[in-house]
Amino acid sequence: MSSSTEFVGAIDQGTTSTRFLIFDKTGVPVASHQIEFDQIYPKPGWMEHDPVEILDTVKTCISKACEQFIKAGNEISFIKAIGITNQRETTVVWNTKTGKPLHNAIVWSDARTTHTVAVLKAKPGADQVQEKTGLPISTYFAGVKLRWLLDNVKEVQAAADEGILAFGTIDSWLLYNLTGGPNGGLHITDSTNGSRTMFLNIRTLEYDQSLIKFFGVEKVKLPTVVSSSEVYGRMPDGVLRGVPIAGCLGDQSAALVGHCAFKPGVAKNTYGTGCFLLYNTGEQPVISKNGLLTTVAYRFKGQKPVYALEGSIAVAGSAVKWLRDGLGLIKEAGETGELAAKVEDSAGVVFVTAFSGLFAPYWKDDARGTIVGITQYTKKEHIVRATLEATCFQTKAILDAMNKDSGNPLTELKVDGGMTDNDVCMQLQSDILGIEVDRPQMREVTALGSAIAAGLAVGVWKSFDELKVINTQGRTRFKPSITEEARASRFKLWERAVERAVGWQV
Ligand code: G3P
Repeated sequence: MSSSTEFVGAIDQGTTSTRFLIFDKTGVPVASHQIEFDQIYPKPGWMEHDPVEILDTVKTCISKACEQFIKAGNEISFIKAIGITNQRETTVVWNTKTGKPLHNAIVWSDARTTHTVAVLKAKPGADQVQEKTGLPISTYFAGVKLRWLLDNVKEVQAAADEGILAFGTIDSWLLYNLTGGPNGGLHITDSTNGSRTMFLNIRTLEYDQSLIKFFGVEKVKLPTVVSSSEVYGRMPDGVLRGVPIAGCLGDQSAALVGHCAFKPGVAKNTYGTGCFLLYNTGEQPVISKNGLLTTVAYRFKGQKPVYALEGSIAVAGSAVKWLRDGLGLIKEAGETGELAAKVEDSAGVVFVTAFSGLFAPYWKDDARGTIVGITQYTKKEHIVRATLEATCFQTKAILDAMNKDSGNPLTELKVDGGMTDNDVCMQLQSDILGIEVDRPQMREVTALGSAIAAGLAVGVWKSFDELKVINTQGRTRFKPSITEEARASRFKLWERAVERAVGWQV
C-alpha cells in the first residue's frame, strides 16, 4: 500500500473505449479499468455511439477501478477530486425534461454532413467563421452535426421548437448525468470542448450571437462555458459520492496538460483513434494560414486562456484496427511493429488512410482511402508498414504547416497514445520528421492531464512548478537516422498519393 493519502481520479472517455484511472501525487496510476463499447456504422462514412452505453461504461469503470483501489488498502476518502477528459466534437442531443437522448451521438469522424457543410459554406457570413472560431467549416465540428440533426431528425427539431432540446459534447453529457441528470444536473462544457462547437468566439470564449444565428441554433439550450479546472459539482451517489468533479478538458488538450507542455513553443502528438498535434502558442490565438486549427489549449480558473495550433488527423489507430477487423491482416495491433520491421521499407507502397476525408492540413471532405504502388512483390508487411507511415507522413505535413504558421521550427515532439508503444512507428516518425521524438514511460498522458486539472482545482498540487517531477522517469528519445534527401523523396511520394486520394468520394 502506498503511504500517500492524496489521489485524483480521471474519467477518460475516448472514441473506442472508456477508462477510469486513479493517480497518486507523483502521477503514477495506481488503479484503472477500461471498457470498449459499440461502434455503430449505419452507412458508409457514418459513425455513432449510444450515449447511454457510454454513461454505463463510465459508471462501471469507476466502480471497478475503485474496487481495485480499496483492495490495495486505500480508502475512497483519499480521492480528492476527479477530472473528465473526452473525445471531442462528438455530439449528443437530449430532452431536458426526461434527460433521455433524442438520437445516437454523432461521432467526430462521421462524414454524413458533407451536404450540410456545402450549404453552410454558401451562406453569407461563411467567410468570417474561421476568423471568429479558429475552425474551418467542416464535417468534423459539433455545430455542423447539430445543424444536421435539426434538419434531418423530426424529434430533434420538435424538441427545439418546444424549448426542451439540450445540446452537448460528451463532456457535457457526462457532467449532466454525473451531477443529477434531469434532477438538477449541470449543463456545462469547458472552454476547450466549447471551442470545438463553432459557436464560441475564440478570443472572448463566449458564445457569439452571430455564429448562433449563422448555424440557426437559437432555440437550442447550449451548455454554459466554464473553466477547465474548478469544482463544478460533487458526485451525488455511487462509490464516489461527495467527491468533487473539478477538471474537464477535451482529450487533446488534456494530453498537452499531461505532458506539462505549459510553455509556448512546446508541442505534443497523441496517436489514438485519430492523431492530434497541438502546439502551445501561449495567450494569443494564432489563426492559421496553412490549414491548421486554432483551439483552446486550457483555461484554468482565474488565469488567462492558453491557446494552441492544432493539426488533426482523422485516422491513425483506427487504420490499424481496420487492418485487424476489416482486412484480417493481423490478429492484434501489437503485431504491426514486428511485421513492419520485417521489411526494409514499404517497397513503394503508400497508403493514404482518408477513410472519411482528409483533415489537416488538407481539409478535403471528398478524399477517400487510397493505396498506391502495389506490385506482385507487395506483401502484407509492406501494407502494414505503409499504414504506420501514413500517420507519420500526415504528421510531417502538419509539422511543416505549423513551422510556417509559427515561424519557429519545432525541434522535438512529445508523443503519447496507443501507437507510440510501437518502436518501429516512432523511429519512422523521427526519420520522416527529421527531429527527435520524446516518449514517456507512462503513456496515460491524456487521463493524467485531466487529473492534473482536477488536482490543481482542489489543491492536491498548488502550482505548475510542483508538476515538474511528474512522469519524467524512463523516457525514450528516437533520433532521425536517414538523410535529408531520403526524407524529401519519401515525402514527395506521399504528396503524390494524396493528390490521387482527393476527390474520390463516389
Ligand atoms: O477530436 C477528436 C479527438 O478528440 C478524438 O481523440 O483519442 O479518440 O483519437 P481519440
